[in-house]
Amino acid sequence: MRIGLLHPGAMGASIGVSLLASGHEVGWVSEGRSHDSCNRAKQFKAFIALDDMSVWADGIMSICPPDAAIAQAQAVYSTAFDGFYVDANAIAPNSAKKIAQMFGAGAYVDGGIIGPPALGAGTTRLYLSGQHAARVADWFTQGFLQAIALPASGHANAIVAASSLKMAYAAHSKGSSALLLAVNALAASNGVSEALKAEWDISQSGLNQRSVVTAKVTSPKAWRFAGEMLEISETFKTQGLSGAFHQGAADIFSSMAELKDQPGADLDQVISKILGSRDSPDSER
Ligand SMILES: NC(=O)c1ccc[n+]([C@@H]2O[C@H](COP(=O)([O-])OP(=O)(O)OC[C@H]3O[C@@H](n4cnc5c(N)ncnc54)[C@H](OP(=O)(O)O)[C@@H]3O)[C@@H](O)[C@H]2O)c1
Repeated sequence: MRIGLLHPGAMGASIGVSLLASGHEVGWVSEGRSHDSCNRAKQFKAFIALDDMSVWADGIMSICPPDAAIAQAQAVYSTAFDGFYVDANAIAPNSAKKIAQMFGAGAYVDGGIIGPPALGAGTTRLYLSGQHAARVADWFTQGFLQAIALPASGHANAIVAASSLKMAYAAHSKGSSALLLAVNALAASNGVSEALKAEWDISQSGLNQRSVVTAKVTSPKAWRFAGEMLEISETFKTQGLSGAFHQGAADIFSSMAELKDQPGADLDQVISKILGSRDSPDSER
């Protein structure tokens, strides 16, 4: 098959490699993309414009920042594309439903990726849902990515089950990272960092080390996590639950946005970004 990738970011390019390994042709669109994306896409077939790739592709996979997912879908929908459209972004079920309505249930397959870019065996899963989820899962016969079609259920959100699963998973994984970094910033702001570290060493073994690792791992991607947290907040609100926790997580990640693509920052740098974004702390009032 001919599969178009929008776009070859760290995750998208790794999925493209699994598609190549499975015997497919993989296309991408160079217009507007950065040097990094161009470098990652060298092994794929280049198209200058989306219109050109859309008439070539049997399927298109959208793997981009979550807050660009709907605009990306609209751009594809406005072309002559008539294959399967797979949105594999970390977006709220309601956002995924908007895209499903655009393409129709016969052409839309919902996706949710769990794990890092698929560069090794057993690390990364692409969950799929919708009428043709199993067909898209069958695209991945080789390569490192494991594609899993979720069983159809009678739930009203069945078509977007993959996005629902991703939201629940990331609500904990990234939400707890934001909480841990916020707690470190709070302790620093109140002058009790060393005391907290000492207490954690006694009663919460591993949290000090986890704070350091979390700062390093999340800082280059925090700019993108902010949009994902807002999608998770919406997901909670849609189910009548409070979205405030992940709204707060979005604020924490937004405050770290300047660390984008820099090699992992240390905990003190992250704390200073978080504290630098404060409105007016009590001490200054
Ligand atoms: N990386 C992970 O560990 C991971 C894990 C699970 C799920 N995911 C999901 O995979 C998706 C992409 O992640 P990634 O790691 O590949 O991110 P990434 O490395 O930052 O790549 C994002 C790609 O999207 C392009 N892009 C940037 N701004 C865009 C816009 N406004 N509209 C359309 N495309 C845009 C980028 O192109 P330029 O840089 O050329 O502008 C790049 O090719 C996200 O939805 C994320 O939730 C990632």
